[in-house]
Amino acid sequence: MSIAIKTTELSRSFTGGGEKEAGGLFQALSDVNIEIPEGMIYGLLGPNGAGKTTLIKILSTLLLPTSGEAFVNGYNVDNQYDKIRPIINMVSGGENCGYGILTVAENLWMFAQFYGIPTKTAMERIKTLLEIMNLTDKADVKINKLSTGMRQKMNFIRGFVTEPKILFLDEPTLGLDVNAARETRKFVMDWVKNAVEPKTVILTTHYMKEADEMCHKLAIIDSGKILAIDTPANLKKQEAGGASYNITVGYKEFDANSLRAIPGVASFAHSVSDEDAIIEMIFNLEAGGALAKIIEKLSSEGLSILNIHKKEFSLEDAFIKLVGRRLNGGEAGANEHR
Ligand SMILES: Nc1ncnc2c1ncn2[C@@H]1O[C@H](COP(=O)(O)OP(=O)(O)OP(=O)(O)O)[C@@H](O)[C@H]1O
Ligand SMILES: [Mg+2]
Repeated sequence: MSIAIKTTELSRSFTGGGEKEAGGLFQALSDVNIEIPEGMIYGLLGPNGAGKTTLIKILSTLLLPTSGEAFVNGYNVDNQYDKIRPIINMVSGGENCGYGILTVAENLWMFAQFYGIPTKTAMERIKTLLEIMNLTDKADVKINKLSTGMRQKMNFIRGFVTEPKILFLDEPTLGLDVNAARETRKFVMDWVKNAVEPKTVILTTHYMKEADEMCHKLAIIDSGKILAIDTPANLKKQEAGGASYNITVGYKEFDANSLRAIPGVASFAHSVSDEDAIIEMIFNLEAGGALAKIIEKLSSEGLSILNIHKKEFSLEDAFIKLVGRRLNGGEAGANEHR
């Protein structure tokens, strides 16, 4: 099996910026070692500022590493970017690409020209992709007349028009509605599954469900460091006898560390919903970890319990265990609705 991506001790620092400055340097990536075999969807999961985009920018030759090495299809990002660029493509969720005065089809054709794709091939691919993404009726509309979501769909299609060997998707479903996000996920999965020549996708996302559904392997990243690499199924394996609970309480200030310190609590995280004035707490308990002690503690802290719900150990729980907080801090359950 060939290796699509390999990094060794890959690090990147920036002067200024970030919170944890040391000697004027901010470490955005520290000693990242990953190896991605061809033909898989590989996810990077981590909170804001974790270093996901920085890693993708290095692998797509937009940014140089400070130290360590990165290879894409065997080529070194340091000095072989002319070999790498023709075989990769990248789509970023929030990005606003294209020329407003050109139509959707014209913009896509223009991007294909940057890669030297013959017009006939490009037009065929554009037609097929527009159909799959339900955007055919907008093919001849100037893109400054599109909604944000439609523009995002066009941007997404741009990533596939060049039939890249390796595709970087940085939050591809950002800003898409539920149906469009679902179509997008399915499209990527089919694209990899049905490829004649192996295709590799490196995906970042904030949506646990998306990571769980799409990725063959996941790297969990926080503060520039990789904390775990495994399949979603393995990450979701709970230690024998453990249990997970969602407990909703009425809003009141509380000390998270005192809850974390309750004997038998393996990990704890919470998020606040200002709108409903509630706090959603997630407790992962070790084997024999006593729920009674938690309830007692919450009551003694004056927190009113509104709901207790035993749940399956999810990717989010694995994330909480490793990172110590929820991925989508303020938006309790936002990832569950996609
Ligand atoms: N050009 C830059 N100059 C200075 N600091 C930067 C620069 N680019 C990124 N950083 C810092 O590096 C860290 C990692 O940023 P990065 O964009 O890689 O995070 P991310 O994981 O993609 O986050 P998000 O989920 O918000 O997109 C952040 O603290 C950021 O402030
Ligand atoms: Mg990012």
